Amino acid sequence: MLREILIWPDPRLKKKSAPVRTFDTALHRLLDDMAETMYAAEGVGLAAPQVDVLQRILVIDTSPRQEGQKLIEVINPVLVRGEGATTYNEGCLSVPGEAEEVERFASVDMRFQDRFGKTVEMHAQELLAIAFQHEMDHLEGVLFVDRISALKRELIRRRMKKLKSEREHETPHSEQPAL
Ligand code: NI
Repeated sequence: MLREILIWPDPRLKKKSAPVRTFDTALHRLLDDMAETMYAAEGVGLAAPQVDVLQRILVIDTSPRQEGQKLIEVINPVLVRGEGATTYNEGCLSVPGEAEEVERFASVDMRFQDRFGKTVEMHAQELLAIAFQHEMDHLEGVLFVDRISALKRELIRRRMKKLKSEREHETPHSEQPAL
């Protein structure tokens, strides 16, 4: 099931997420929904707070832009080690149509749990390393717009305000023929 993605600025995106303690079917359903929502929006990562769930859960799939990758389900992630520095023109499904250069570690060692609670260790580089860091920020209520200049942030804020008001005034589409 598709979930609605919150658009910045939204106070719910600024909250800190809580660790997952129960690896049950509700979690599995949420992970499935998050992957479906990410693919439908053509994103390479999505964090649970973006769909209004304040839990430490991410889905990442950089395969459209990085060879050899696939869907990764990430629960309770910990950055064990970050190395080097790189910049990337980052976008975010909560800030549609916008992208700005952000500095990140070039490679990261991650530890997290899978959907069954099993511990996974993973070394990530290039886009996957950036995606891990970007998505983990969401769990602390931080977005890429918090890592750019105040001037750029205010310009984006204005465009998002306009986008939201346009969406609110859109006529809802209906699959049903009009009578
Ligand atoms: Ni994002």
